[in-house]
Amino acid sequence: MNQLAGNTTEQPQYLQIAGNIEQQIRNGALAHGTRLAPVRQLASDYHVSINTIRSVLDTLEQQGLISRQPRQGVRVCFQPQAAPASYQPFEPFKAAPGLAVQAQKWLDASILNGQANGQFINMVLSPELEMFRSFQRHYHKVLLQPSRRGMESSAGYLPLREALCRLYSRRDVSLDSTRIQITSGCQHAMEHALRVVCRPGDNVAVPTPAFPGYLALLGQLRLNAVEVPMTPAGPDYASLKAVMHSGDIAALIINPICHNPTGVTISDDYKRDIANWANALKIPVIEDDICASLNFSEASPKPVIGYDTDGWCMLVSSISKIVGDSERLGWCLPGRFRDAYMTQVAISQISGPYFRQKALANYLNGSRFNSQLRNWRAQMKACLDEASALLKSELGPHIEITSPSGGYALWIRLPDYVDVTEVRRQAKEQDCDFLPGEVFSLAPRFKQYIRLVLIPSGDTQYQQALARLTAIIKLMLNSG
Ligand SMILES: Cc1ncc(COP(=O)(O)O)c(C=O)c1O
Repeated sequence: MNQLAGNTTEQPQYLQIAGNIEQQIRNGALAHGTRLAPVRQLASDYHVSINTIRSVLDTLEQQGLISRQPRQGVRVCFQPQAAPASYQPFEPFKAAPGLAVQAQKWLDASILNGQANGQFINMVLSPELEMFRSFQRHYHKVLLQPSRRGMESSAGYLPLREALCRLYSRRDVSLDSTRIQITSGCQHAMEHALRVVCRPGDNVAVPTPAFPGYLALLGQLRLNAVEVPMTPAGPDYASLKAVMHSGDIAALIINPICHNPTGVTISDDYKRDIANWANALKIPVIEDDICASLNFSEASPKPVIGYDTDGWCMLVSSISKIVGDSERLGWCLPGRFRDAYMTQVAISQISGPYFRQKALANYLNGSRFNSQLRNWRAQMKACLDEASALLKSELGPHIEITSPSGGYALWIRLPDYVDVTEVRRQAKEQDCDFLPGEVFSLAPRFKQYIRLVLIPSGDTQYQQALARLTAIIKLMLNSG
């Protein structure tokens, strides 16, 4: 009997069955030319009516995966395309002159070729993961529905913005859906926020270590990073307060919940202070909220904008860490900069991806999103705990590891005598590369650090990669 993997009540049965057969075709279990069982047989295998199977076959035929010939029955017609010999999944390009060397290294490692060989570099989610699969089913359904595209605002598909409003209302943020702009991911949302509130030459405060994408963006936009040291409680309070009151910064970038890379979440009092400083000093604060839904202790942590009174705080986020970064869907709550922000994005991208936005709205509004997010959070926590326990037991007291409040990374300090460049050279060779601490600041502050991105995965390849990396570090510790 055929089993329906990930059987869901959200989707008509014929689409679930079509999805099941499609998977078998794409993974080669049903090879090109294979004759499918007769309609009656399929109906009996899947315990559905003959009409349902006819709809399944119509769907597969529309996708070009099968062909129906008189007297020959139904045959699979799908041949996976072999990649051309010259194909390079991450085509190299020369970075623009003037980009800081740290930003260049980050681009090289994580965007240009890192996804090809670095197990621990990026949070690249597998399309097999539950949340992506559910989103994909909605997307599939939306694409197959005979629907006319509505007249959508360049700010984004309204039901998606309404669904996001509902999610933020659970986090104590009252918002109207017309105050949300849909973007192509969080980095895109951040870029436009910086373009709106800063001018070339401005100073932007940023706690470091910081997501290297910020530093790259600042360089690209000719903005100067003013680094504020992170502590286990968040950006050093006195330093941040002094920088905010210096009269010399145009904006603050902050990643207050499950900070990348340290995993730190700041207290509610601290969030309130930041929002108060922003309003009193009229300094825009751009809050990166991308990891908030991966907070292990509190499902709905209140963001800094929840304490905002006059709209000086903006929030940027995306689905990259929960559904995946392949679909490039993010958003910005631009506060008082709404008109300028929406104008900026409208000019830059004219309109958003209609069907993808619709699929996401349906998924967020569906019955499974919350429980799947809870599951995903639990899996992330188990994965970080397991990796952390392994590293501690193998590498002992020589290394310092963060205890993240959430997120997807471990930030690790190796002793001064360990040559991190050499660890990385060996890790690359053994297909267990990571991002070195040096790319998380423009100053040489984090040379002894490494960041490991950990993603729950059922496959042993991943555990083997962690074991290889641990062995490399262990050897370097022992020879030090
Ligand atoms: C803190 C942080 N902000 C932004 C991004 C970029 O997100 P997106 O892929 O949605 O552009 C990342 C990606 O790793 C991140 O870790």
